[in-house]
Amino acid sequence: MQSRNARLAVAPMMDWTDRHYRYFARLLTRHTLLYTEMVTTGALIHGDTARFLRHDPAEHPVALQLGGADPAEMAHCARLGADAGFCEVNINVGCPSDRVQNGRFGACLMAEPDVVANCVAAMKAAVAVPVTVKTRIGIDERDSYEALAAFTDAVANAGCDALIVHARKAWLQGLSPRENRDVPPLRYDVVLRLKQDFPDLAIVINGGLQTLAQAAGFLERLDGAMIGRAAYQTPWLLADADRVIFSDPTPPPTPHEVLDAFVPYVEREFAAGVPLNAITRHILGLFQGRPGARRWRRHLSEQAHKPGAGIEVLRDATRRVQ
Ligand SMILES: Cc1cc2nc3c(=O)[nH]c(=O)nc-3n(C[C@H](O)[C@H](O)[C@H](O)COP(=O)(O)O)c2cc1C
Repeated sequence: MQSRNARLAVAPMMDWTDRHYRYFARLLTRHTLLYTEMVTTGALIHGDTARFLRHDPAEHPVALQLGGADPAEMAHCARLGADAGFCEVNINVGCPSDRVQNGRFGACLMAEPDVVANCVAAMKAAVAVPVTVKTRIGIDERDSYEALAAFTDAVANAGCDALIVHARKAWLQGLSPRENRDVPPLRYDVVLRLKQDFPDLAIVINGGLQTLAQAAGFLERLDGAMIGRAAYQTPWLLADADRVIFSDPTPPPTPHEVLDAFVPYVEREFAAGVPLNAITRHILGLFQGRPGARRWRRHLSEQAHKPGAGIEVLRDATRRVQ
């Protein structure tokens, strides 16, 4: 079994944590674990497998998040992921979208701990990399601590290597996925209690974390912290992660150094046919809080999507910030 050192992670986020974002994030932090967007077993098995698994070796450590509920399919996809080089395979038990509910996976699986446990067991038997579960603290009326503890017990007994807990419940009807990330109140106390009751299981906290200091505070009592929206919207936050969270004394890069390292990647991808905007949309927040940040953001967002927009758009934007 490979061990897991994931004191800090960037959350899986559909449409956001694609391979371009991850390459960029890796230039800010060497140690933070990155996650893919969720990939469904259906897409991996019946779709363009190579495209869904595609990533650059420089992205490591990077984990693959799977959506699905069939143990044999999950095991097969876990193997595909491990063979492709992902360092962890994670099961999505937190997404409340209608599409995911129709497929009977995501957050609705909190009501079926045995199904998740069977997936974990099948995946553990198939791969040597860690198998983890990302969940909520409850769904709908099924939001007692006892139900969460029973779910945790089931996945832990099946061999789950870490439980990542988005510290709010989800309403499966009536709230959009976006509202389900804001409306149900955060209950960090529930996650802390879970760790007390399951001291041998690695527990990672997620939801509403805005700063590394906040994450570091939780690391005194928990095994990891996962940051989602803040890591995407203010990526510069990640530049201090190696020092603050992983005790790596290497000084953080400057934003311009990050950009200098990113440009060759953009050139390479652009030359291979990726539209400029598909990459630059992830770096709009790079200069947040610095002189010229708004000019940078505006130039990229207004110019990069235009037909024929080329690498010079990025260079022009760079000249607008200090
Ligand atoms: C745009 C977006 C897409 C998301 N997609 C996924 C996903 O594919 N899988 C998943 O488990 N969670 C997904 N999430 C939820 C995040 O992983 C995270 O649990 C949530 O945003 C709470 O963390 P935060 O407050 O730090 O953002 C998504 C969140 C956002 C904002």
